[in-house]
Amino acid sequence: MIDTYLSPAEFKRLLSALLVVIGFICIAGFFGFTVLPGLRYQAHTGPEATVVAVQGETGWLDPTDYPVMAREVIPPIDPATVMTPNAPLMVRGKAVYAQSCATCHGPEGKGDGPAGTGLTPKPRNFTEKVAWKNGTRLEDIYKTLDEGLKGSSMVSYNHLTKKDRMALAHVVQSLGAFDHGASDPQALATLEKLFASAGEVVPNRIPVARAVDALCREYAEAQSTPPASTIR
Ligand code: HEC
Repeated sequence: MIDTYLSPAEFKRLLSALLVVIGFICIAGFFGFTVLPGLRYQAHTGPEATVVAVQGETGWLDPTDYPVMAREVIPPIDPATVMTPNAPLMVRGKAVYAQSCATCHGPEGKGDGPAGTGLTPKPRNFTEKVAWKNGTRLEDIYKTLDEGLKGSSMVSYNHLTKKDRMALAHVVQSLGAFDHGASDPQALATLEKLFASAGEVVPNRIPVARAVDALCREYAEAQSTPPASTIR
C-alpha cells in the first residue's frame, strides 16, 4: 500500500533514516541511563573518601557517628605554645585538618575536597588570597573556626579545643604561600588572654546510636514504673 506513495528507492531511504534516528536514541539512552549514573556513582565512592566508618552496636557502619571519648579536663594554655607555629602544634593541627577539614577543603587546601564539590558557596581555596570573608590573619581564621560563616556549610568548630582551633589556624595559613597580613596586636593580646585565662572541660562522648538506646531504655523504665501514689 505504501508503494502508492513512495517508490521502492524512496522507501528504502526512509527506512534507513528511521534506523539512524532509532540508533541515535539507543546510544543517547545508554549514556544517559547507564554510563552517566555509573560515573557519578564512582565519583562519590572513590578511594579518596576520608570519613572513617564507626561500627555501631547494631553491626551497621555509620560514618556520621561519634567514637567513644572520655571526659577531659584541659588546663589553661601557655600562650607561648600556641601563638606561633611549632612542631608538635603543627603535627596536631595537620591530623585534625585531615580528619575534619580535608573532606571539603582538600588535602592541600585547594578547596577541592570530595564533599565540597556540590556546595554553594564553594569551600575556600587556602592557597589563594581570593574571596576570604573574615580574612586571612591568624585572628580572622580563629574567628571563622569559632563562629563559622553564616549561610554556608562552613559551620562553627567551637566544639574543638581552643588549642586545636589555633593549631588549625596555623595549618590553614601554612597551606597558602601568600602574605596573610600582619596581625592586629590588640586581637592577638585578646587571644592570648583567652588561652591563659580558663581551662576547658571536654565532656564524655558516646556514639549517637548508644545514646538513643539509653534514652529508649530510660523511657521504657519510666513507663513501667507505677506512679508514686500506687506504691505503699
Ligand atoms: C562541609 C564542608 C566544610 C568543612 C568540613 C569545612 N569547611 Fe571551611 N569552608 C567551607 C565553605 C563552603 C567555605 C566558604 C564559605 C563562604 O564562602 O561563605 C569555607 C570557608 C572556610 C574558611 C575561610 C573563611 C573566610 O574568611 O572566608 C576557613 C579559614 C575555613 N573554611 C577553615 C576550615 C577548617 C580549618 C575546617 C576544619 C576544621 C573547615 N573549614 C571545614 C566548607 C567546609
